[in-house]
Amino acid sequence: MLRRPQLDLRPFHQADTEFFTRMASDERVTRYVGDGQSWSHEFINGRIRTALEQDPIKTVGASRWFLATEENAPVGIVVSTRKVDGIEIGYWVSPDRWGRGIAGVMVDKALATVSEIYGTRKLIARVDPANAASAKVLTRRGFQLEATCEGLDYYTLA
Ligand SMILES: CC(C)(COP(=O)(O)OP(=O)(O)OC[C@H]1O[C@@H](n2cnc3c(N)ncnc32)[C@H](O)[C@@H]1OP(=O)(O)O)[C@@H](O)C(=O)NCCC(=O)NCCS
Repeated sequence: MLRRPQLDLRPFHQADTEFFTRMASDERVTRYVGDGQSWSHEFINGRIRTALEQDPIKTVGASRWFLATEENAPVGIVVSTRKVDGIEIGYWVSPDRWGRGIAGVMVDKALATVSEIYGTRKLIARVDPANAASAKVLTRRGFQLEATCEGLDYYTLA
């Protein structure tokens, strides 16, 4: 059996922009994110700006991002955003590291941090039904499939 990855999770910084941009420019990553289209540089930069703005945590739309590192090398990110119905999480692992359990460990670490920062345990996630690995990350951690809306499965952790 593979060794469980040893990861550190810390807030996303401006200096992590290059790593994020590399992932956001990779069609293997964006395939199941948002509308599945490739991300333009303008769109990527806009997302990074919003993440670094650090709107007040109670504001709908406020987001906080986290970088996961393994032996000091970036391997993935977790994004979190306050929505009306809960805190939405998303997670990306660098494709050269897929299949090693990194997403699971990264999300385990993020769940406690995100709940604490936003002051709520109501977490939500939207997943393309074809994204089996992502669905497994969620259901393994107690998320439940509530509904399918606009082509995406809607999961909650109460
Ligand atoms: C989805 C994603 C985060 C998974 O990352 P990963 O580090 O490869 O995932 P893990 O190795 O932790 O695997 C998660 C689970 O899915 C399973 N899995 C992996 N690939 C799978 C596949 N193709 N089909 C079914 N299950 C799969 C693993 O066995 C594991 O299950 P387990 O906990 O029972 O062992 C990664 O593929 C990714 O970044 N994709 C692009 C961005 C994305 O889609 N993000 C999610 C949208 S919110």
